[in-house]
Amino acid sequence: MPSSCKAQAAPNIALIKYWGKDDEDLNIPSNDSISLTLDTTVLCSTCLVKPSSTQTDEFFLNNSPSTVTSRLQRQLTACRPNSEPHFLSIISKNNFPTAAGLASSASGYAATAVALCNYFSCNSDVSVVARLGSGSACRSVHGGLVRWLSSDPFNAEQVLPASDLSNLIVVVIVFSAETKSVSSTEGMRRTQSTSPLFSGRKERAHKRLEEMIDAFKSRDFPTVFRLTMEDSNDLHEMCATSVPPINYLSSSSEKLKTAVHDINNDNGSPLVAYTFDAGCNGFLILERCNLNKVVSHLALTFPDLNNLSHQLLEDSSPPSVLLCIDAEEVRSVYISGVGSGPLVQCEP
Ligand code: DP6
Repeated sequence: MPSSCKAQAAPNIALIKYWGKDDEDLNIPSNDSISLTLDTTVLCSTCLVKPSSTQTDEFFLNNSPSTVTSRLQRQLTACRPNSEPHFLSIISKNNFPTAAGLASSASGYAATAVALCNYFSCNSDVSVVARLGSGSACRSVHGGLVRWLSSDPFNAEQVLPASDLSNLIVVVIVFSAETKSVSSTEGMRRTQSTSPLFSGRKERAHKRLEEMIDAFKSRDFPTVFRLTMEDSNDLHEMCATSVPPINYLSSSSEKLKTAVHDINNDNGSPLVAYTFDAGCNGFLILERCNLNKVVSHLALTFPDLNNLSHQLLEDSSPPSVLLCIDAEEVRSVYISGVGSGPLVQCEP
């Protein structure tokens, strides 16, 4: 067994969203989903596992002692050989706000799965172990475009490698770094049991996913962008029609949606897509060549983005970085290419 293993994984942004579970303990999805994995050099969860100095497992999150959640316990049980109790210190960190709609559970549990599978040389599929932590985490163990089918719900698989998607970027616009008020698990539960729109969700997501894969393969990005926005709106309409209703979006998210529709209308076809998870922060998907155009247009709605817009005009190669704006409305912006998946390093 190695003395330690350190894994890094990036969040993934779902273009067709997982929302609803057929089995809550195992995170078995009730619908198909598909996502782009981000680049670990921009947004990253790191997990180090090493032997614990005590007779229990210990977990540290962002430098603070934390409880070993039942989700983490399930991952440990799936990887640790029964024969020898071998207690671990699991040290996880995110380089971005945790539990604020930035998919930190996806990257966090993908990183723990990769670290644990490598540490214990575990035979289980790493995507299966990631899913036991958080459903969406099973997509973050692969790079590029990744699908997770409800007809094959145990693990996710890569559809296209990152190298085929080097023209795409994801711009993450953080309006709030606060913890979301309704967790994804609770939101799904409520939608599933009360929203009249939940019936038909499985079919709608499946149809969009098939169309989207065809569009990616034929590099028809306007269709990819249209389907992405439709599916984000589908999720938030299901939330709005739940009882009691859930509204993850803020007035800034609504302004971002309007600005994106304006850009696309001016262009005559979709040039950029917005998508929102269980939080108010926005994710924009676009082709790298349109970044300047899109950001300068967005700066008309969000003057906080003016400096970024000027910076992009001066710099011909768009940065893949975090830009801390720290203004009233836009807290920070991350620009990420599509990433090629987790990294892991074990010490002998
Ligand atoms: C809106 O994967 O966080 O981001 O399985 O309960 O951990 P659990 O849920 P989680 O839900 C993600 C929901 C989403 C859509 C998506 O990423 O597909």
